Amino acid sequence: MICEGRAKIETASSVFYNPRMKFCRDADMEIFRMFKSRTYLDALSATGIRGIRAILEAGFRHVEFNDISKEACELIRRNLEMNSIRATVHNRDASALMREISYHHVDIDPFGSPSEFMDSAAKSARKYLSITATDTSALCGSSPISGLRKYSSFAEKTEYYHETGLRMLAGKIVREITKYDKSCEVIVSWTREHHYRIHFRLRKTSRGAGKIYEKIGYILHCWKCGNRTWIDVFETPEMFCKCGMKFRMYGPLWLGELHDPEFVSSLSRNGETGELFERISREIQTVTHYDVHALCKNLGISPPSISEIIDALRDRGYLASRTRFSGTSFKTDAEIDVIREIFLRIHQQP
Ligand SMILES: C[S@@+](CC[C@H](N)C(=O)[O-])C[C@H]1O[C@@H](n2cnc3c(N)ncnc32)[C@H](O)[C@@H]1O
Ligand SMILES: [Zn+2]
Repeated sequence: MICEGRAKIETASSVFYNPRMKFCRDADMEIFRMFKSRTYLDALSATGIRGIRAILEAGFRHVEFNDISKEACELIRRNLEMNSIRATVHNRDASALMREISYHHVDIDPFGSPSEFMDSAAKSARKYLSITATDTSALCGSSPISGLRKYSSFAEKTEYYHETGLRMLAGKIVREITKYDKSCEVIVSWTREHHYRIHFRLRKTSRGAGKIYEKIGYILHCWKCGNRTWIDVFETPEMFCKCGMKFRMYGPLWLGELHDPEFVSSLSRNGETGELFERISREIQTVTHYDVHALCKNLGISPPSISEIIDALRDRGYLASRTRFSGTSFKTDAEIDVIREIFLRIHQQP
């Protein structure tokens, strides 16, 4: 017997339950409280913990559970009873179920990659789509072939690989959603330990579904000087960086916003999840970020403090902030030459 949030559940050795994903479920509950989900499908329920917590903590009224495993479905039924909840439990292949039934809010929380469920989830979801991925090596660029196979996108492991991963996952989901004449925006997203999580808001519009491709594109990365730039799918890439090195090209990726500032500002700032929401809300929305240690290694200097760098960039009139991705990285709209110059100036100060 386990207590998580307001739920108490039984687990079983044959049914998946990962206590380390509690943070993700805690964050979800804060987010779900702000949603007006009319029907919610916990498409890959396992113990049913996420859907049960959504009912108990976010006030969801119409939740359906699903798992392909018979043992999981039996456990979900017992867990529902234990929490005095009556709800439908499907024992179906999630993709088949989602092709048949449309839900206001669909949640895909698989073991590994969500790629096999994305098409049917994009078809089924009307207003909200929440997706987890735990196949980090495919998303972060350490296994580029897996990235291509699962997300039809190419990346290598740069210093901002967590962000590339999130953008690769978002980019693939967006391309699935637009097939069904729906447009979307990212409400909130993050990476933590071994998971990536994205919540989308959807809208039925074929015009919007086309327009969104202005936010799908490629990152051009220079491995020599650390420069990076990005282009949407309608543009033609530059082959060479200004330092003379050939760019590497990563994508297609989502180049749009990774959160909706108004939504994130409405989320509770309590506890560990509150810290994440606070960090997200302070982040400027630029594509990619810079890691202080990677830049210093490239320049052959010792790392300055991150707040010193951010202050110096702001003093020069640039936007700059910390990031949700790591404690040693920052975002800015300044170009690499300016950033390098600022690093060297701080380094030379007595
Ligand atoms: C990572 S677990 C879900 C964890 C759960 N959402 C949580 O928060 O603890 C993935 C579940 O998906 C189920 N599953 C795998 N393939 C499926 C499919 N094609 N259709 C439905 N369920 C599936 C597995 O049986 C497993 O219980
Ligand atoms: Zn360069």
